[in-house]
Amino acid sequence: MKRARESQALRPPAFGYHGAASGARATELYCEAVALEGLATRHGTPLYVYSAAMIRTRVNAFVHAFQSIPHTLCYSVKANSTLAILRLVAGEGAGFDVVSGGELQRVLRVSRKATSKPKVVYSGVGKTAAEMELALRSGILLFNIESASELSLLSATATRLKKRAAVAVRINPDVSAKTHPYISTGLHQHKFGVPIPEARTLYAQAAKQPYLTVAGVSVHIGSQITDVGSFQSALERVADLVRALREQGHDIHYIDAGGGLGISYEGAQESFEKQIAAYARAVLAPLRGLKLHLLLEPGRSIVGPAGVLLTRVLYRKTNNRKRFLIVDAAMNDLLRPSLYGAYHEIVPVSRESRQTEITDVVGPICETGDFFARDRKLPLVSEGDLLAILDVGAYGTVLGSNYNTRGRAAEVLVDGAKARVIRRRESLQDQMRMEKF
Ligand code: LLP
Repeated sequence: MKRARESQALRPPAFGYHGAASGARATELYCEAVALEGLATRHGTPLYVYSAAMIRTRVNAFVHAFQSIPHTLCYSVKANSTLAILRLVAGEGAGFDVVSGGELQRVLRVSRKATSKPKVVYSGVGKTAAEMELALRSGILLFNIESASELSLLSATATRLKKRAAVAVRINPDVSAKTHPYISTGLHQHKFGVPIPEARTLYAQAAKQPYLTVAGVSVHIGSQITDVGSFQSALERVADLVRALREQGHDIHYIDAGGGLGISYEGAQESFEKQIAAYARAVLAPLRGLKLHLLLEPGRSIVGPAGVLLTRVLYRKTNNRKRFLIVDAAMNDLLRPSLYGAYHEIVPVSRESRQTEITDVVGPICETGDFFARDRKLPLVSEGDLLAILDVGAYGTVLGSNYNTRGRAAEVLVDGAKARVIRRRESLQDQMRMEKF
């Protein structure tokens, strides 16, 4: 039965306000068909809530945008590594980009029941021998090498195990990503990748190693990139290198274009389909005429807008004229505002008041940096009211900590009218288990 109710999409297709009856003001925030207030009552706060539909839609939008070329989407596990999220993404046919043995173990755990091996690329500047060994034994698709020393260790490890490793060198193209300095990686001043002239030497060395196969060229210039021209510049350099390497007889099959596509934290100005189409054009233009298999490593653009953090207002407080909403989530639950000064939209879950105020939204942790918003215009809310912090699906829970002996928040995955806990709230016992006194 179709219910008559007014709706207002906040982050389509997953998050929006719905009113109870036709003509009524849309007042209650939902994730898909599930009311968020009900989830907070049932599971407590702070609570991460994700939309399965939105994650599926985004994976498929990527696949659609790149359909003109053979490609594999390798979801970047670091953005959100909760097992149920990995399983959901794998269910849509995606592979994975990992940066540690731990992330690889998570992928292997969810892939155990899969009929085929997970398609995994392994990036990162500090892979240990033990991590390489795990990756070699599990038969990953590609190692992205970031230094001469790493190349030697991989060669030695592969030779010892008699396991062949497919390698790409992650180049540092010296291209600005025009993003926050902490998440920019493509300039020579950054620790990532290898400058192109040095990369050519590494390819020559790699080709001589008995258990290494030169297979690709990789690049990743940063995260939260909104100017797609930066991707195009980086891939133009990659394409030139691929042509030069092929001329020297290297069999370059893969180009790994990394991740980095940004999302709109202020609310979508354009549809994701349009945004991803522009991204695909920028990535594909420089690759025209090169026969290859493209690897993509998106993280944020897949899961970012698919998650919200629910938090209750504990207290209202005024210091002189300065207003504060003290909420029960803190920087240990969501670090992005404290670490990068990142903006996240905050909305009341029940829209009752049309009045607004200018206020800070802060957590209970003993740090001035423990804030979610400063001098923000928000609808007037009361103590006990529920707020939703938007676009926290990526780099939210994964950057969590136990600072101030706070347990990690629980996580819920919504799928249509169903909601299930995919990670229970961390208890005090969980936190103290490893300690002795
Ligand atoms: N591939 C590599 C090699 C990466 O280093 C990253 C992210 C990705 C792919 C995925 O990038 P994405 O599509 O998510 O932009 N904590 C920061 C973001 C750090 C990104 C690190 N590397 C934040 O909260 O903004």
